Amino acid sequence: MIRGDLLYEGKAKKLYRTDDPNVLWVEYKDDATAFNGEKKAQLAGKGEMNNRIAAFFFRYLRENGVDNHFLQEVSPTEQWVRKVTIIPLEVVVRNRAAGSMAKRLGLEEGRMLPRPIVEFYYKNDELKDPLITEDHIDVLGLATVDQREEMKRIALQVNDLLGKKMQELGVTLVDFKLEFGIDPDGRLILADEISPDTCRFWDVKTGKVLDKDRFRRDLGNVVEAYREIWNRLEGTTP
Ligand code: C5P
Repeated sequence: MIRGDLLYEGKAKKLYRTDDPNVLWVEYKDDATAFNGEKKAQLAGKGEMNNRIAAFFFRYLRENGVDNHFLQEVSPTEQWVRKVTIIPLEVVVRNRAAGSMAKRLGLEEGRMLPRPIVEFYYKNDELKDPLITEDHIDVLGLATVDQREEMKRIALQVNDLLGKKMQELGVTLVDFKLEFGIDPDGRLILADEISPDTCRFWDVKTGKVLDKDRFRRDLGNVVEAYREIWNRLEGTTP
């Protein structure tokens, strides 16, 4: 496989074309951004951790029946993925109130929810990714009703699988964000990344934050926390 032109540069990843029109070459960068790009830093080693962790989660999910865009790792910071057309929605699953939900609704950070919930956000930098209702999605045609229902179903399935795996490793899965795409055959598949940049992970025993909130909240030792997640995953079979 040959790495071709840069197709898109995001906040944390670069996407390149390849000589196969159905395959993209993803490079995970060391750049960290938060608050819609207002806060920025370079964190040496973050790209490698996220590439490894995302590859692990995608393999684990596939082995447990959740199809996704991952193909294979090609270097410590790069992986090949299937090319899909991304649906402009972020799908967030929450097990506990935290982050924007805790803030918006005045809830205590970490409060357990009686059941997992799914939220949709409209992917739009200019609008700062606003929360969007299911009716909005339907009337604006951002996804079909079937796709929307399917995204919810898969998101909750991912929550069960990831939650179980992280619990075994002594980590609470507080919440996470997923993105989906449509493949050339019109099928909906899980895409983008799953990593400490896109999940909230808390150590079960100590409550220590092991995710991007260390960067957002200036807690320090960001990459060390990501490495701790990787160390716990590595050595377990996906
Ligand atoms: O900020 P908020 O509480 O809404 O985030 C919920 C979850 O979604 C967190 O795990 C966060 O890391 C993730 N997220 C993300 N990308 C965004 C917004 C949120 O990965 N643009």
